[in-house]
Amino acid sequence: MILGIETSCDECAAAVVAEGRRVLSNVISSQVDIHREYGGVVPEIAARKHIESISFIVQEALNQAKVSLDDIKGIAVSNGPGLVGALLVGLNFAKSIAFVKGLPLYGVHHIFSHICANYLEEEWEPPFMCLVVSGGHTHLIEVSDYNNCQVLGRTRDDAAGEAFDKVGRTLGLPYPGGPEIDRLANSGTPSISFPRSRFNDSLDFSFSGLKSAVLQYLQKNGQENVADIAASFQQAVIDVLVSRTLEAAEKRGLNKIALAGGVAANKGLRDAITEAAKQNGLALSLPKAVYCTDNAAMVASAAYFRGSPDNYDLNAYPSMGESL
Ligand code: KG4
Ligand code: ZN
Repeated sequence: MILGIETSCDECAAAVVAEGRRVLSNVISSQVDIHREYGGVVPEIAARKHIESISFIVQEALNQAKVSLDDIKGIAVSNGPGLVGALLVGLNFAKSIAFVKGLPLYGVHHIFSHICANYLEEEWEPPFMCLVVSGGHTHLIEVSDYNNCQVLGRTRDDAAGEAFDKVGRTLGLPYPGGPEIDRLANSGTPSISFPRSRFNDSLDFSFSGLKSAVLQYLQKNGQENVADIAASFQQAVIDVLVSRTLEAAEKRGLNKIALAGGVAANKGLRDAITEAAKQNGLALSLPKAVYCTDNAAMVASAAYFRGSPDNYDLNAYPSMGESL
């Protein structure tokens, strides 16, 4: 039974997970209402708010799981990549508990933890091709086994979630734009032809051209058909993400694909990949939406499957490279 802690961005989260899959509690306190006023996450405010919430959130996770710290066998915490001030709050809290209780401490790579969301409450197992799409990352990752991941493609500019948020801002939608565009796209028609960028020699992504195309469209045509613009932009992102995931799976001879990260909560993306998997005879894992966006259950799961603990002098890193 592992206690997970996640404070890499604007969610302060704690969870208790048994055997890497059984979620006994999953408590998330989002600061989104505070940051919305600024149109994005303010790192210093995020860190300060984490300090105010962390002990309550951890206690609540223990309460909801109906366990005490004496039942916990390890402490897992995201130690990067992320906002370093925010990360340090969770890390130091995790270290303190681990040190006082003499428990193993597991520093977890945030992207690796997103992948592990696929193991929660499911029997899903490697090997599979995972598309990790979040606010900071867009990665195609071959997950060979629980401890071996290889990045095959990545964004060369904006992450998919970042593109959603920036387009959302230009459409005058509140932060974060992703869920807002998702909602709007449902009532729109993808009638505008926006570009789908792809590189012939690699599985990398690029979304900045698409973002500029939406901006140019708005400058020329105004905001009359916001729902159609949202639907068309979202469709362009989905087309690229889905086709590249299928290509990557085929290239590596994998018949299992999975989604992870905040953008994996997108209904249009979930529907499109479900259909594509069906048509191509691929097994598909879609974590519940609550496990796609930042949470601590995935952090606890990641520690369980990784296995080897860290020293108590573990540090936090804003960027961590790609060895997951
Ligand atoms: O994984 P996450 O919670 O945090 C990071 O690690 O970045 O992802 C947050 C990102 C934001 O860009 C947000 O707009 C996007 O995920 N997102 C969505 C949806 N829900 C969250 N994007 C599109 N559709 C959604 N339903
Ligand atoms: Zn994340």
